[in-house]
Amino acid sequence: MKKGCKYGTHRVIEPAGVLPQPAKKISNDMEIFSNEILIDVIALNIDSASFTQIEEEAGHDVEKIKAKIKEIVADKGKMQNPVTGSGGMLIGTVEKIGDDLVGKTDLKVGDKIATLVSLSLTPLRIDEIKDIKPEIDRVEIKGKAVLFESGIYAVLPKDMPENLALAALDVAGAPAQVAKLVRPCQSVAILGSAGKSGMLCAYEAVKRVGPTGRVIGVVRNEKEKALLQRVSDKVRVVIADATKPMDVLHAVLEANDGKEVDVAINCVNVANTEMSTILPVKDFGIAYFFSMATSFTKAALGAEGVGKDITMIVGNGYTVDHADITLQELRESEALREIFNELYL
Ligand SMILES: NC(=O)c1ccc[n+]([C@@H]2O[C@H](COP(=O)([O-])OP(=O)(O)OC[C@H]3O[C@@H](n4cnc5c(N)ncnc54)[C@H](OP(=O)(O)O)[C@@H]3O)[C@@H](O)[C@H]2O)c1
Repeated sequence: MKKGCKYGTHRVIEPAGVLPQPAKKISNDMEIFSNEILIDVIALNIDSASFTQIEEEAGHDVEKIKAKIKEIVADKGKMQNPVTGSGGMLIGTVEKIGDDLVGKTDLKVGDKIATLVSLSLTPLRIDEIKDIKPEIDRVEIKGKAVLFESGIYAVLPKDMPENLALAALDVAGAPAQVAKLVRPCQSVAILGSAGKSGMLCAYEAVKRVGPTGRVIGVVRNEKEKALLQRVSDKVRVVIADATKPMDVLHAVLEANDGKEVDVAINCVNVANTEMSTILPVKDFGIAYFFSMATSFTKAALGAEGVGKDITMIVGNGYTVDHADITLQELRESEALREIFNELYL
């Protein structure tokens, strides 16, 4: 067995010299290197921004969605949406562990895992698409994938259904960042707060701000409002379109006694929501963009344009212990478990 680069650069086909994530094409040859792990894939959880884009392009036709996904993977060797650039994650069972990782990894052949690195850099081969569940962005397949030496993963917990864990792990970076960013007594606004990551963030934010803080959930309609209120009655829910910055600003200010917030979290899955995140934040506050539809240019020029001295954080999908923090939320909150069971299983 040959040894590859721990970051997977040995699989990059073009352009030369880049890492697998920005690469246009990578090798999805399933003959593994000595520091790789082969996974027998069960299902892909396509990133929400990516799935929404493919679904719209395919006119919501399931066969066309299947064809598009197959085309992308055949072309790029990985499931990276060429429009959004984003991927998603997968679950599968460990089929083979490269010689150099035996004794180094805690994984065993047969373990069921969720990969926590993006599909946008994961070598993937699809042999068959068995089913598509558009309502939860899930694609059940027969196929194989490769995890690099640097690739992170979570062994699926035994105390909850695997689809429940998968749904939450998909967005684990967001609530775990909230746990680290948000302090007692602060005010926090969450855009897209009734979505998957938004609900987890809202729950975590309520915990972190404590009784003297305030969490404001921005949602787009009454149905979402009712959903978010089930997560926590401590969230002040406001209805506004996240693509309309002045509407969001007024709604958040009104919910926060006229004051700007310390932290804004963007969990929306559509474009043009940068200014709705930035405007409600006070000077020296934090805007955290978890949304993959965020434009760096729009955020940077937009903040400058309104004279806001705020810290803007790119939503790194990984932060230390993100899987544990997120799964712990599901263990703690019966409401979250119920909602996730209803919506994402
Ligand atoms: N940074 C990372 O590593 C990472 C990892 C995973 C996902 N993501 C990104 O995080 C974002 C959220 O993911 P998710 O899985 O939580 O998505 P989700 O469950 O689809 O949630 C998105 C929410 O935004 C709402 N929304 C859409 N347009 C809106 C508008 N104009 N105004 C107000 N609300 C609006 C949606 O409402 P409707 O349901 O009514 O449309 C939904 O509640 C996506 O962009 C995804 O790509 C990032």
